[in-house]
Amino acid sequence: MSKIIGVIGAGTMGSGIAQVAAQCGHSVYLMDANVEQLERAKTGVSKSMDKLVVKGKFTVDQKSNIESNIHYVAGLEALSPCDLIIEAIVEKMEVKHAVFSALEKIVSSECILASNTSSLSIASIGSSLEKADRVIGIHFFNPATIMPLVEIIPAVQTNESTINEVLTLIESWGKTVVVCKDTPGFIVNRVARPFYGEALRIYEEGLADFATIDWAMTHFGGFKMGPFTLMDYIGNDVNYAVTESVFQAFYFDPRFKPSFTQKRHSEAGFYGRKTGRGFYQYAEGIETIEPIKDEIIGKIIFERVLVMLINEAVDAVFMQVASVKDVDLAMTKGVNYPKGLLAWADELGLNWVLDKLSNLFDEYGEDRYRPNALLKRMVKNGNKFY
Ligand SMILES: NC(=O)c1ccc[n+]([C@@H]2O[C@H](COP(=O)([O-])OP(=O)(O)OC[C@H]3O[C@@H](n4cnc5c(N)ncnc54)[C@H](O)[C@@H]3O)[C@@H](O)[C@H]2O)c1
Repeated sequence: MSKIIGVIGAGTMGSGIAQVAAQCGHSVYLMDANVEQLERAKTGVSKSMDKLVVKGKFTVDQKSNIESNIHYVAGLEALSPCDLIIEAIVEKMEVKHAVFSALEKIVSSECILASNTSSLSIASIGSSLEKADRVIGIHFFNPATIMPLVEIIPAVQTNESTINEVLTLIESWGKTVVVCKDTPGFIVNRVARPFYGEALRIYEEGLADFATIDWAMTHFGGFKMGPFTLMDYIGNDVNYAVTESVFQAFYFDPRFKPSFTQKRHSEAGFYGRKTGRGFYQYAEGIETIEPIKDEIIGKIIFERVLVMLINEAVDAVFMQVASVKDVDLAMTKGVNYPKGLLAWADELGLNWVLDKLSNLFDEYGEDRYRPNALLKRMVKNGNKFY
């Protein structure tokens, strides 16, 4: 019998996750404390399903079956028959604690209790449970219906059967699953930090403007969007908050230091596309800013950001956050990088990467640029990642 899935929070993520589960044949209970949000979610799911019907992915009958599989409920009690519940509410630990603790009194002792948190510790979320071996992180990417990656994060309390059950289930939903340690930013939100941070730093040093840095990353790197276009797309408020939270969570490691430029843009309300202005302006009639296509400067910019990204990917492996394969999968399937960073490092030559980082470290004398010990060890031993 197909498992019954509960989702708490019918916002951006929760409604997408509920739709994915319903599309895979599950009966889903989607709960939100805000009744109007439940209505919005229902309309959103229906519109999203309409698009899938137009694309030929589902028939009209299948659409109506899938939609009738989602039960929109306003109270936690309705989640009592669930086998797995994924929480996707506001990113506040005290609110998550209250919800998990109330939930445990309602569901069976076998029900797996998961969080879609982007930045909070799964161990801490689990601390609100009596039976904490069934807590786990199941981190979808936005939009959950489209993005293939799901990070699975066992906490120190999580038992093997919970991990295995969740892996099998989420894979059966057609998602690409990676397993990672319960550490700040998990894989993607940790490894991707230099894409934004180093680009901002390069801008702050006056080496190039936003458009030129974006051009360098798309032209030389094959990234779909440059860092400033992407930050405007994500929202400077959201992206800055993630950077600051990762920085704090890493005990203020200078590798993750946030940027004043982004902070000021965020403070000014220049969030990006959603407010009509971020690093760029989006009002109609505004001329697009042309990059200065200097091949030499462009290459310097691209290589500097890339080696910083690779250094972070190496650290995730060194610190056993995830395997080589999973780190590369996470960046290609979670944020559409053109290549896995570790495969890219092999291709460029680890000694070339180490040289670039060592030059930056010598020039700046800042801990931010310190080459990872695993990278040094691998170069010394002539090893590769693949
Ligand atoms: N938005 C993203 O890109 C993204 C990506 C991955 C993970 N996440 C994580 O997913 C979670 C949800 O994010 P979102 O962007 O969907 O938020 P959102 O603001 O769109 O939705 C949150 C929903 O939770 C409801 N809610 C709040 N408190 C509640 C409670 N106590 N009980 C029941 N419902 C409650 C709200 O009414 C709202 O509808 C967060 O933990 C976030 O870190 C977000």
